[in-house]
Amino acid sequence: MIPHIVYDADVLRLLDQRRIPDAVEYVELRDWQSVAQAIAAMVVRGAPAIGISGAYGVALAARAAANGPHFLDEVSRAAHGLASARPTAVNLSWAVTRLLREALDLVDAEQPPHAIAAALERSARAIHEDDIESCKRIGDAGAALIPAGATVLTHCNTGGLATGGYGTALGVIRSAHRDGKIARVLVGETRPQLQGARLTVWELLGDGIPHTLITDSMAASFMRRGAVSAVVVGADRIARNGDVANKIGTYGLAVLASAHRVPFIVAAPLSSFDPARETGDSIPIEQRDPAEVTHVAGVRVAPAEAVAANPAFDVTPASLVTAIATDRGLLRPPLDRAISGVLDEAPVSSAT
Ligand code: MRU
Repeated sequence: MIPHIVYDADVLRLLDQRRIPDAVEYVELRDWQSVAQAIAAMVVRGAPAIGISGAYGVALAARAAANGPHFLDEVSRAAHGLASARPTAVNLSWAVTRLLREALDLVDAEQPPHAIAAALERSARAIHEDDIESCKRIGDAGAALIPAGATVLTHCNTGGLATGGYGTALGVIRSAHRDGKIARVLVGETRPQLQGARLTVWELLGDGIPHTLITDSMAASFMRRGAVSAVVVGADRIARNGDVANKIGTYGLAVLASAHRVPFIVAAPLSSFDPARETGDSIPIEQRDPAEVTHVAGVRVAPAEAVAANPAFDVTPASLVTAIATDRGLLRPPLDRAISGVLDEAPVSSAT
């Protein structure tokens, strides 16, 4: 895949995912405020990818503030501003909080601002590189659950574009395809923003993985006639009990999968788990501009006076999840116990 997040000293270049598949264009961002705007506008999207971009945003802020009198205040302002650009994916606040804590520790250790800025840049790069390795481990763990000759249904885009590279749910599909197990991927188009139709199909075409694009409303009918072997989705935030916040429409697929006895597999790195949330009830759900619902690709399809709702994510209860494929292996029910096990073994620091 072509590079989609490129950091080069004083500029962050992001592949503009709003333009895929029609154009391959990059936006150049030179300050943290522009990075926060790009995350909110979904130039870059997908939980791990916005975490990585947010970390580079903090690195940009630290570099800019290194010569001024208010270094730590500026870095802290950037971290908080970036974390609030999109509220549901915990990876964003996890990544920027990690860099902010490092800055605080290095200030305590009386390191000069330039040295701290350089350290934060290294940490942002490490988050980026680690995520690619995590995705490969997730992919291999999840592929073990995919039967030979499978038709796998996926939702939204969880691929290289949504991560540092390789993908989470799409990483599972990539690994299963490498193992010769994938007959076909059913790609839900994912209204309102069509990440499935635009981005997942683009990535599958790039890899030569057989796929069929369906509208979200076709999933039930495909499952009823036995045409789906497994549903594999990503996650924006997973609570301690295994409740999963993910792209709107995921919950509906989980209910359908349960009704048709189809395995429902979630794929996510440990950075998508939120140790501070006992259940999914308290996960903040981003509400986006209703114009994304009244319009398709910028063209209005509803009457101009239409009132529309646009919650970007929903929460799937843990009881509907068959397994979670993580970078620490497979987690199976009871998920609360399995999650406590991995979090206690390798604590994930709480986000702000
Ligand atoms: O609104 P988006 O496109 O950022 O939503 C993305 C998703 O819901 C993904 O499933 C999730 O972030 C996991 S991506 C590996």
